[in-house]
Amino acid sequence: MYSQVSTAAWSLALVAQLVGADNPGQIGSYNGLAVTPAMGWDNWNAFGCDVSEDLLLGTAQKIVDVGLRDLGYNYVILDDCYSDGRYPNGTIKPNFQKFPNGFKHVSDRLHALGLKYGMYSSAGYLTCGRYTASLGREMTDAQTFADWGVDFLKYDNCYNGGQSGTAQISYTRYKAMSDALNATGRPILYNMCSWGDDGPWNWAQTMANSWRMSGDVYDSFSRPDERCPCTGDEPGYLCALPGFHCSILNIMNKMAKIVSKTQTGAQNDMDALEVGNGGMTDDEYLTHMSMWTLEASQLVMGTDIRSLDPSAYSILANPAVLALNQDPAVSAGARRWIHQVADKDENDAGNIQLWARTMNNTDAVIALVNAGNTLRDMNATLADIFFDQGGVISPQARQGWDIYDLWANRMDNETASSILNGTAPAIISVDDMLNQTTRWNVSMMSYAEGLNANASALFGKMIGSVDALGTVTAKNVSRHGVALYRLRANGKGMSKLDARDEL
Ligand SMILES: *[C@@H]1O[C@H](CO)[C@@H](O)[C@H](O)[C@H]1NC(C)=O
Ligand SMILES: *[C@@H]1O[C@H](CO)[C@@H](O)[C@H](O)[C@H]1NC(C)=O
Ligand SMILES: *[C@@H]1O[C@H](CO)[C@@H](O)[C@H](O)[C@H]1NC(C)=O
Ligand SMILES: *[C@@H]1O[C@H](CO)[C@@H](O)[C@H](O)[C@H]1NC(C)=O
Ligand SMILES: *[C@@H]1O[C@H](CO)[C@@H](O)[C@H](O)[C@H]1NC(C)=O
Ligand SMILES: *[C@@H]1O[C@H](CO)[C@@H](O)[C@H](O)[C@H]1NC(C)=O
Ligand SMILES: *[C@@H]1O[C@H](CO)[C@@H](O)[C@H](O)[C@H]1NC(C)=O
Ligand SMILES: *[C@@H]1O[C@H](CO)[C@@H](O)[C@H](O)[C@H]1NC(C)=O
Ligand SMILES: *[C@@H]1O[C@H](CO)[C@@H](O)[C@H](O)[C@H]1NC(C)=O
Ligand SMILES: *[C@@H]1O[C@H](CO)[C@@H](O)[C@H](O)[C@H]1NC(C)=O
Repeated sequence: MYSQVSTAAWSLALVAQLVGADNPGQIGSYNGLAVTPAMGWDNWNAFGCDVSEDLLLGTAQKIVDVGLRDLGYNYVILDDCYSDGRYPNGTIKPNFQKFPNGFKHVSDRLHALGLKYGMYSSAGYLTCGRYTASLGREMTDAQTFADWGVDFLKYDNCYNGGQSGTAQISYTRYKAMSDALNATGRPILYNMCSWGDDGPWNWAQTMANSWRMSGDVYDSFSRPDERCPCTGDEPGYLCALPGFHCSILNIMNKMAKIVSKTQTGAQNDMDALEVGNGGMTDDEYLTHMSMWTLEASQLVMGTDIRSLDPSAYSILANPAVLALNQDPAVSAGARRWIHQVADKDENDAGNIQLWARTMNNTDAVIALVNAGNTLRDMNATLADIFFDQGGVISPQARQGWDIYDLWANRMDNETASSILNGTAPAIISVDDMLNQTTRWNVSMMSYAEGLNANASALFGKMIGSVDALGTVTAKNVSRHGVALYRLRANGKGMSKLDARDEL
């Protein structure tokens, strides 16, 4: 539908994004994986090095029991600190205190639960926790992982012996593991955890499924930290000191510069989620979740699932938001504008932002982020939302749209508690599911099918409409909160000329 719009003013980046939207699947995955972003759980954010078989398998069971697997969270990823050196023959030796039955056992149990098994190593001489790592041992370790039944590898960047500093050096170091994984013949999703070092968004698409584009996230919305020195405002967002303790706003600002690099099979990874870990307000977690999904980041839960509270559950389990992340037209929302505001928070941060993305079914999704310090109404003009398609004259801006609030049907605590304690009634059939507003099960129907069927649970709640050339207004957006809206063309306000331009 965009083919007849003048492309003169478009940047290459936007063309790439729209090609992705127009031809889903055309830009493929190098190994057939991460066609849509991976979803799962990783222990690091909540547990760090405190890993064990009990933790992994207990969490896995809970992920199944509370319906998170069937919302798509199917990779269970063991992070650092699981090994005890190597056997004389060079194979990684499990820490048998933590994993008394070894990793094939863990893998078999996860697979029996319908889950996939994620593992961790570093493209260095040691992992970040100073355990044995895989630089120079790629073939051996990849084969070990394949023998253990691993389906996903998070591959870190610690102790890389100075083998970074140019794209070529980093590429070579990470490509060695990509080739080694490929040589095993086992499909293993390859998640480079290279913190944005040497700009992986420029070179990783042909050999990895996702790459971290920042130093580690931490559980704060806006607090700056000297250990995360890059802001995203460096030229081309290239920064030699990725660090860690990066706030949600910091990572969003970096992501804004590289959105065009996310595609089917290869995504910018904004790091695992902090939802549930307690360092942010409910509104801040909603913004965090909204932006990670809108940006098509892989969605990896990072909290203790065994003691999840209902409010965290209802953030992680909102099907309308997950369907956005899993849309077949994989692209990252682009920031249309950012304005500084006078009301700064205690961290001296204060701005408002509009982000927008086109979905496979031609809906648009927008996020109005209030990173100011007070509740406010926020506006987005159709001209700004559809700026890519030709500013105010775009056919999209010259028609009416219905507005759906993707958080309006967020599950209430009572329902979430009943799911968490196992007393909620099961969804009994596809018909039953199509009547639900807060629950989904991808084993019964995929998000893509549900979107094509206009399933209520995937569209939130209709809250109004906007006329051609009009303004979308979000009332009372909380401090550090978000309005996450899906716009659906309602056919109103289009002239014949517009209709012709439309296709
Ligand atoms: C999802 O649907 C599948 C297939 O019908 C079923 O086996 C599974 O138990 C359902 N999951 C949940 C959480 O109800
Ligand atoms: C290396 O030795 C360990 C311990 O005996 C064994 O479990 C593993 O299979 C061996 N690795 C290879 C590649 O033979
Ligand atoms: C190995 O790479 C080739 C070329 O990209 C791809 O077709 C194949 O699916 C890959 N195999 C595995 C197991 O990743
Ligand atoms: C839901 O539960 C959370 C704690 O999990 C609580 O903070 C919140 O106020 C509750 N919401 C409502 C509407 O009761
Ligand atoms: C938002 O737009 C409405 C309708 O155009 C207008 O009345 C209002 O003043 C605007 N508010 C802000 C904060 O810009
Ligand atoms: C489960 O949670 C629901 C909703 O909070 C509550 O009404 C019910 O009593 C709980 N049941 C059990 C067995 O804990
Ligand atoms: C779904 O909702 C419709 C309309 O309310 C109703 O007729 C139908 O029986 C419902 N189906 C199921 C399976 O609950
Ligand atoms: C994407 O949209 C196209 C055009 O509407 C549709 O034919 C296709 O089925 C959609 N893709 C998926 C996976 O649903
Ligand atoms: C879904 O809704 C869209 C927009 O209202 C409409 O064009 C389409 O026909 C609907 N599809 C189905 C299967 O109902
Ligand atoms: C917004 O907040 C104002 C003042 O608290 C209140 O009067 C109004 O009803 C709210 N509007 C909405 C749509 O929530």
